Amino acid sequence: MEDIAISVRNIAKSFRRYDRPSDRLKELLLPNRQQYREFQALRDVSIEIPRGQTLGIVGRNGSGKSTLLQIIVGTLQPSSGQTQVRGRISALLELGSGFNPEFTGRQNVFFNGQILGLSRAQIEDRFDDIAAFADIGDFLDQPAKTYSSGMFVRLAFAVATSVDPDILVVDEALAVGDEAFQRKCFSRIESLQARGCTTLFVSHAASKVVELCDRALLLDHGEAIITHHPNL
Ligand SMILES: Nc1ncnc2c1ncn2[C@@H]1O[C@H](COP(=O)(O)OP(=O)(O)OP(=O)(O)O)[C@@H](O)[C@H]1O
Ligand SMILES: [Mg+2]
Repeated sequence: MEDIAISVRNIAKSFRRYDRPSDRLKELLLPNRQQYREFQALRDVSIEIPRGQTLGIVGRNGSGKSTLLQIIVGTLQPSSGQTQVRGRISALLELGSGFNPEFTGRQNVFFNGQILGLSRAQIEDRFDDIAAFADIGDFLDQPAKTYSSGMFVRLAFAVATSVDPDILVVDEALAVGDEAFQRKCFSRIESLQARGCTTLFVSHAASKVVELCDRALLLDHGEAIITHHPNL
């Protein structure tokens, strides 16, 4: 068990779907009358990821990829099943999550670095490297709400990969970065892999998944179909 970084056992997640916005109100007023339908976003997903492995997660829009990552990271509770994560996890989830829009980029670096487990002094030590990697110039001292999508991702990725994570989770976000930046990100992911970092990587770019991942998990309507390399 020591060698398993992430264990996901029989995870299911259902969301409540309302046909009309007014149905939510009806439910508040008439709590005995159920107004929603259950929507199954994940069905009985199980997977064990050995320490140091890179797992690609693929599947069409709405197949449950982000839901699964959020459950692993702990920002979403499953409806049933268990997850176990061993090690410090650093995640780059969908755009802007984890950033306070009113704070400047610099303040967000400190804010996020501390959430991810670094001390102030450690962040100060690494600050110049983080700023150099993100390379967003004067915007570093502007509020994050003024950032373009690419600027957000530049800074968020720079922080997420500078905290010595045991586990790195990247949800597609990189797609909004320009080509040069994406290349820089992939070489950083590779250097974390070389240091033994377990990596979860969601992408619609099949060639990147083949290149970067040891194994791929295909989700289809919330069901897991595991495919091994190289037959993606
Ligand atoms: N809070 C929510 N309430 C209701 N339904 C939700 C909620 N969050 C996600 N869903 C539904 O769960 C399904 C899976 O969503 P998820 O975001 O995990 O898909 P995804 O595979 O990441 O898609 P994409 O490739 O577009 O990012 C979708 O049908 C989505 O509409
Ligand atoms: Mg998603």
